[in-house]
Amino acid sequence: MKNIFKISYLTILLLATTHQVKAEEKVELLKTDWSFKGLFGTFDRGSLQRGYQVYTEVCASCHSMKYLSYRNLSEKGGPEFSIEQAKAIAASFEVTDGPNEDGEMFQRPGKLSDKFVMPYGNVKEAQAANGGAYPPDMSVLAKARSGGVDYIYSVLLGYEDPPSGVTLDDGVYYNKYMYGNNIKMSQPLYDGSVEYSGGTEATKEQMAKDVTTFLMWTAEPHLEARHKMGFKAILYLIILTILVYFSMKKIWSRIESEV
Ligand code: HEC
Repeated sequence: MKNIFKISYLTILLLATTHQVKAEEKVELLKTDWSFKGLFGTFDRGSLQRGYQVYTEVCASCHSMKYLSYRNLSEKGGPEFSIEQAKAIAASFEVTDGPNEDGEMFQRPGKLSDKFVMPYGNVKEAQAANGGAYPPDMSVLAKARSGGVDYIYSVLLGYEDPPSGVTLDDGVYYNKYMYGNNIKMSQPLYDGSVEYSGGTEATKEQMAKDVTTFLMWTAEPHLEARHKMGFKAILYLIILTILVYFSMKKIWSRIESEV
């Protein structure tokens, strides 16, 4: 009898805690109107270019982008910088090359074929510089997290004072959307963190939207081509359906008239 009580007590406790965990996971993510969603979705070129600027000026000091080369910045379907612009962007970075004839590594300006330079030499160095937490590589982050772009957008805007009674260690920040509400990244975006040319106001919401759009492109560089393909496939199926329908009508009309 005692055991039954114990078991049911434990079950209730278990249910209560799992329920709580579920409730915690259900924080509604912030939403914004993404231009790339939906069947006809395309990237907003301006947003991609601004997003690249935010990534380079703010995020790149901690987060690497190891799958991207500078030449990708001028490819179709991306930010579509001109080749000259992409060359100038590449050349603004110092790349380690070598070894030369003396067996030494040397620094040179970046070229289109170079991969994005990494902020840290290795994972340990990155962790040491960030209170033990590793800033994840950003190449495919938008695809790697459940919630995707909405999650990234929300984390960037989700910094708050911790609720009363919650104390945080040094280097740990309260974020409404991060799992467990603790994040070892200080708030990266504040109004005016970057200066946009072209008159777009650099509010933190705008920068969060732009950089997240850029991260969506790096994670899925062929999104526009895929959407176009999907649209063509549907168009093809519609036309095929109409053709099949009328040929069926025709065939049956002959049979019906013979009966
Ligand atoms: C000073 C270094 C630093 C900068 C600058 C920085 N981050 Fe981070 N970021 C981190 C670290 C460290 C983590 C890991 C935090 C953790 O695990 O608690 C992180 C985590 C994240 C996460 C959560 C990833 C996950 O695992 O779910 C996102 C999203 C993110 N950063 C986006 C950005 C964006 C976008 C920028 C630029 C606007 C940026 N970060 C700038 C250090 C930084």
